[in-house]
Amino acid sequence: MIRVLFVCLGNICRSPIAEATFNHLVKSKNLDKHIECDSAGTAAYHIGSLPDKRIRKVAQDNGLILTHKARQLAHDDFFKFDYIMAMDQSNFENIRKVSLLARDQEPSDIGIQLYRAFDPEKGNSLNVPDPYYEDFAAFQNVYEIVRRSGSVFLDFLIEKHNLNAPEI
Ligand code: 4NP
Repeated sequence: MIRVLFVCLGNICRSPIAEATFNHLVKSKNLDKHIECDSAGTAAYHIGSLPDKRIRKVAQDNGLILTHKARQLAHDDFFKFDYIMAMDQSNFENIRKVSLLARDQEPSDIGIQLYRAFDPEKGNSLNVPDPYYEDFAAFQNVYEIVRRSGSVFLDFLIEKHNLNAPEI
């Protein structure tokens, strides 16, 4: 099983929609027996909360129901997950710091990546912009970014882990 964790700051806007769009794509390709995912936040502010109602509305407009309850990134996550996908550079730095504590060693970037690096329309920005203090359009933009990034990221996983090989 390949395990992917999506991480943002609060785990109520970007990472839950990244998780849901990616899960949907994985299921549509019948890869759910090979890939599983979850999401978490670097901060503790919203632990236990459902995603923000604005991102739930965007999800629903696109046929997805978000039911994730926010949780904080934990030390175990560095041992459970193969890929930890940061929504922005600040999350990336925070994840590295937690990884340093969790692994009791120098921070390793292995497995920690900026999700937007997979976005074919990333332009100059590797960040999925934080929409929390923005308008509804910012939430729709987050959806489009994570959908595009997820599609390329899944192709990357399929290729890297040879997931299209016929089963014996
Ligand atoms: P997220 O968005 O990191 O995409 O879940 C945010 C959620 C909450 C806050 C900031 C960003 N906050 O400041 O409470």
